[in-house]
Amino acid sequence: MCKTASPRKWMIRRHRTDPQERMNGFTRRQCWDYCRRCIRHGVNRGARGRMGQQSHKVQRTHPADAGWRSQHQGARIMVRLSHRGICVSDIAVSERFYREALGFEPYQDHGIIEGPDMSRTMEIPDVRLRAVMLKRPDGPVIELLQFLNPPATGAREKRSTLQYGLVHISFYVDDIDSWATRITEAGGTVYEETRAYFAGNTTTLLYCTDPDGVRVELMNAPGEAERFSHSGICVDDIEVAVSYYEALGFVPAENYVLDEGYDWLGVINEVPGIKLRAQMVRDPEGNTIELLKVFEPASFGSRERQPLNRFGLTHLAFWDDDPTATAAMLTDRGGYFVEEAHVKTPAIELMHGADPNGVRIELMRLPSSVGS
Ligand SMILES: [Fe+2]
Ligand SMILES: [Fe+2]
Repeated sequence: MCKTASPRKWMIRRHRTDPQERMNGFTRRQCWDYCRRCIRHGVNRGARGRMGQQSHKVQRTHPADAGWRSQHQGARIMVRLSHRGICVSDIAVSERFYREALGFEPYQDHGIIEGPDMSRTMEIPDVRLRAVMLKRPDGPVIELLQFLNPPATGAREKRSTLQYGLVHISFYVDDIDSWATRITEAGGTVYEETRAYFAGNTTTLLYCTDPDGVRVELMNAPGEAERFSHSGICVDDIEVAVSYYEALGFVPAENYVLDEGYDWLGVINEVPGIKLRAQMVRDPEGNTIELLKVFEPASFGSRERQPLNRFGLTHLAFWDDDPTATAAMLTDRGGYFVEEAHVKTPAIELMHGADPNGVRIELMRLPSSVGS
């Protein structure tokens, strides 16, 4: 069962007290036999993740993995990620940054948003805001929201990796120095002290921030084409989070267990000795979310949903043909939705809630079809 760096180590941990314990319908013997086979025969491409020698990729054909998925086969598929929302202080400044530094392009300009329906679904009385959507050529969409009334609140500072909720967005880049230069010139900040080099995978990492303190992770790795990589979420329980995002069309992908206090991991996160697990989940369109469980030191922060007018990454939005059914499923998996924020207009149906770690989730349905 490819849950950690070492199948044996995982089994010792999980089966110490009950050797007959079955995980997802598979016994210890079955898991161990499978992992030995995939390592020996290279089925798992060397059985190493990109970020750590100790990590081990979960292979989709792994029998235990398949069993885990079938356990959740009730998941619906007519839901898909629309955008990642960011609350900004100045939409012109942020638009310039995301276009010039990170390669986004104009997509949709929603102008001024206001009115009782918007106030209700956003849970902000008398709300008035500017909204612009940008899209990268490789697909990802971001929504920049500048609140005019009431003004946004919160710190416009680099968020800690240890804080629950959305923590960063990440890119694979061909030339990390030219990206860093562009980020600086476009109004962002580069934190040279976070530059880390992981020799095992010849990967260089560097953290930057956008003009409002949103962490932007740059990664350069041989063989990885330049592209948007993922959004990162600091979670309390990875299995709960995986189950939640599976209901939104994601499936488990790479699994990196970095629990030995690597120097490079401490440098990039500015937390010496940090130990964590990063479980990637991916949807059919290639959108990837990194679920980060920090073992040491302890994570902190609220796991309640934060206001939409709080600076930084605020929400993930999904198109959905049946948001009420999805909301029920997500509620069963550790999230919740707010009935008062459920709005149906002739143009759109909107639901707002949160995942198990306080990330705001927005479900959107167009009356006659699924949106774009
Ligand atoms: Fe949104
Ligand atoms: Fe990341």
